[in-house]
Amino acid sequence: MQFVKKDILDMASLSVEEITLILDTADRMKEISERPIKKVPVLRGKTIVLFFHEPSTRTKLSFDIAAKRLSADCISITASSSSMVKGETLIDTAKNIEAMKPDILVLRHASSGAPYMLSKVLKASVINAGDGMHEHPSQALLDMMTIREKKGSIQGLRIVIVGDIAHSRVARSNISGLTKMGAEVIVSGPPTMIPSGIEDYGITVNTNMEDAIADADVIMMLRIQKERQTHFLFPSEREYAKVFGLNRERVSTAKKDVLIMHPGPINRGVEMSHEVADGPYSIILDQVTNGVALRMALFYLLAGGAKNVDTD
Ligand code: CP
Repeated sequence: MQFVKKDILDMASLSVEEITLILDTADRMKEISERPIKKVPVLRGKTIVLFFHEPSTRTKLSFDIAAKRLSADCISITASSSSMVKGETLIDTAKNIEAMKPDILVLRHASSGAPYMLSKVLKASVINAGDGMHEHPSQALLDMMTIREKKGSIQGLRIVIVGDIAHSRVARSNISGLTKMGAEVIVSGPPTMIPSGIEDYGITVNTNMEDAIADADVIMMLRIQKERQTHFLFPSEREYAKVFGLNRERVSTAKKDVLIMHPGPINRGVEMSHEVADGPYSIILDQVTNGVALRMALFYLLAGGAKNVDTD
């Protein structure tokens, strides 16, 4: 199958076949990072711009490393280091970047929809690296890669997503992708953090965390997104941790082969205790490792895949 999409904007517009192709390609890319010389000439001569308007550690660094492992020229700018601080609009900034002929633009932006707007006016491919509360498709894809790697398949798994569902682009992308790939998805958290009508996306809501995690194959914990909350949605962090935090006692009631995930950054002691974050069921750092391979796969496929590049 050939990958024909120009942009990666969301999980909603990716088919099961496209998701499978991305995950299969990422599985193959992973080995490159294990080599003594972690570099292949696949994207030599291609230019990738990382444009991050919000802070990031994992996403920005892994896109940067992915580009370099494939031999692309990769340049980063941030909002504070661009002429947007002088009043230039996002669209003008993007058109000026385009005038320098990049092949791929990776955008993180606080406004939902910003990558869509750019994708309509740019010839370069656009990858959404997180837009407001909307979507974070490369995070969902790396999560799916990690689940598939550990469990063999996503089909039929019971996956519980716990926390600030309302403000989470990671939750939105994972709900879309995981249900499409045949998982049963349950969301849990304070009712104030669960959007009404979310069941319409083919998932179940269970605000009793003990019940929700009892038969889970995967527990995906989310960060409390204080920066996106306009008012308090729970009484205190202490109470949140007591009712919805994942601690050793709660993990002891889960399945013996449960996987515990978190997209990061973690509020340790709030949504997850230290011992769980660093414990035997945690695959949080596997997610980070797979983030590089997954983003290599996205670059490779957007740049033309097997049509005009070679991974040897
Ligand atoms: N998971 C994630 O998006 O992390 P960063 O904000 O550090 O990129």
